[in-house]
Amino acid sequence: MKLEIPASFKLLRGSFFKHNAFFLSLFLIGLILPVRVSWPQVDYKSKLPEGEGKQLVIELCGMCHNLQKIFDARKTEKEWELSVKDMVSRGMQIFPEDAEEIIKYLAKSFPPGR
Ligand code: HEC
Repeated sequence: MKLEIPASFKLLRGSFFKHNAFFLSLFLIGLILPVRVSWPQVDYKSKLPEGEGKQLVIELCGMCHNLQKIFDARKTEKEWELSVKDMVSRGMQIFPEDAEEIIKYLAKSFPPGR
């Protein structure tokens, strides 16, 4: 028994392979575009200024929310201390000496008026 392939199906196959490159590039653009657009929001870690406490901030302060909150906030040392205590009341676990280091780092890196 011989199977007849309908002409319309052949047409579909032919055009699919002909336009493969077109669809592939569409797919790639769709894949790359959102990543590029959202990149600045994702890469806060590398934007943190160098300094003692940076690693602690990355490890501890990015656990519940991203680090954007830190970049959006400008505080005095007193205010950062209150913030860190606030985070503790929200469930953050931190050693007192680490908290001190983080507060110093934040006060130096994200002071008011910048
Ligand atoms: C246990 C989870 C948790 C951890 C860990 C945590 N936070 Fe938060 N943080 C929150 C929650 C919940 C909010 C409130 C979210 C909101 O209102 O959008 C918040 C809000 C903030 C805000 C905005 C409000 C404000 O006080 O200005 C800042 C800044 C902030 N966090 C900084 C930090 C820093 C710095 C650290 C590390 C020392 C940290 N967070 C670690 C849970 C956490």
